[in-house]
Amino acid sequence: MLLETKVVASLAALETGLLVIPLPLGAKTLPRAAVEIDKQLHGRLTKLLVEEKLTGKEGESAWLTADGASKIRKILLLGTGVKAFTAGAARRFAATVLGQTRALKAADTALLLPETLGSPLREVAAAVSEGARLGDYRFLKYKEVEAKKRADREPKILQLLLANKKLVLTAERGLEDGELNARATIFARDLVNEPASVTTPKYLVGVAETIAAADPKRLSLKILEKDQLQELGLGGLLAVARGSDEPPYLIHLTYKPAGKPRKHLALVGKGLTFDSGGLSLKPSDSMEDMKIDMAGAAAMLGVMSVIAELAPDIEVHGIAGVCENMPSGKAVRPGDVVKTMSGKTVEILNTDAEGRVTLADTLHYALQLKPDQIVDLATLTGACMTALGQEVAGVLANSKPLAAKIMNCAAAAGELLWQLPLQPEYADSLKSRVADLKNISGTRYGGAITAGLFLKEFVGDAPWAHLDIAGPAWAEKESVPHQPLGGTGFGVRTMIKLIQSL
Ligand code: BES
Ligand code: MN
Ligand code: ZN
Repeated sequence: MLLETKVVASLAALETGLLVIPLPLGAKTLPRAAVEIDKQLHGRLTKLLVEEKLTGKEGESAWLTADGASKIRKILLLGTGVKAFTAGAARRFAATVLGQTRALKAADTALLLPETLGSPLREVAAAVSEGARLGDYRFLKYKEVEAKKRADREPKILQLLLANKKLVLTAERGLEDGELNARATIFARDLVNEPASVTTPKYLVGVAETIAAADPKRLSLKILEKDQLQELGLGGLLAVARGSDEPPYLIHLTYKPAGKPRKHLALVGKGLTFDSGGLSLKPSDSMEDMKIDMAGAAAMLGVMSVIAELAPDIEVHGIAGVCENMPSGKAVRPGDVVKTMSGKTVEILNTDAEGRVTLADTLHYALQLKPDQIVDLATLTGACMTALGQEVAGVLANSKPLAAKIMNCAAAAGELLWQLPLQPEYADSLKSRVADLKNISGTRYGGAITAGLFLKEFVGDAPWAHLDIAGPAWAEKESVPHQPLGGTGFGVRTMIKLIQSL
């Protein structure tokens, strides 16, 4: 990611290929800060605004070449779609700005900060820096010609133009926050976008090693290999991995702050590097996207990749059981009973309900660390997508305050989340005749909830929240400008906010 972001507080000092002037919804005149530029241009900007009948609707735009204002090459009037520039609007807007910068063939860009903000400046600046980077992201590793073309047009700098010099420091901090958020999100996106032949369990172990090596003072890494998993009795993870030639691992990254930690958080990710369904094989069209089944682990790794820089004063454990769900002569069968690390036995009736079986062990492993909170991220059920669609994640929790906190963090991060109930009445549907639990409920209904109830059996009394990210982990269409097609890195920014607010 090459984009550099910085703050400028004087129009006279501004040098840029493209200056973007945001028009708030319903704008009939230019923003006050643009009046000076308009004067230098002998009123051409006002004329453009009137002639093009701009009203500030999102995406509405018109541009001119600024021959008069010497250090500015082009000026673009661009609708924000809102009256007050909130962080949410800024995130979308900045993503559009970079698209326009490319379309207008400018080498760099500058954005005039709107007068009326709907969120604190630091958050707006963070969202600008975040949205610009996230919107300009493409996964082109295997499209070399296109990658080269895009790289040739890469906008190098985004400047945020402020009218008030006093705000520079706050805005600069915001830009840095956003850069970190974007870097962590892109880290997760890359991992999700890579084919499963690349992001094998072993590969993810390598990723965790790289993360830990970057700051050995604050980060440590424990990897459990197959024999240790056997010794500790992680029978669920081992059973799911059995059909694959790729050995399973448990990744456990620990971040420790410089002082005494105020709190301990365990962040657990589902890490199925590929989910074929196993012997309960998926039909081919349902299998197409199943390289994304490690998106929870990828989000955890994304967060851990920037945590030393975030430097929170809490201890954070990043945990993922990583393995592949494949059919073979060695695979776990429907009807098999496996013993999980907790001691609870599970009758596997459908080998495609594998995520919960691996999470049974990784959640119990997390519980052993006695954290104050456990949060897991998992592409767990198609049922959650049926309930909430492809863009909204489900949150299920045994703790009201934790769920509420996560909902607030998601709203601030611009990620869509909705709570589903852990309805105790449904727990009976997971009772097995031969084991403590069975891994499917036996009804078509409420699948996201019954999956959540299954997980709940393994977190004891610890405050815990489960995010079912099966829908939003992957973007099939571009519905928001800061989220291009493919892996979205969903959950990363909400988790960063959570870490900062515990
Ligand atoms: N990884 C899938 C869930 C999924 C589906 C993620 C679509 C992303 C997109 C999970 O392991 C699975 O197969 N779940 C089954 C559960 C069923 C067998 C009870 C499902 O949702 O169909
Ligand atoms: Mn599955
Ligand atoms: Zn799965």
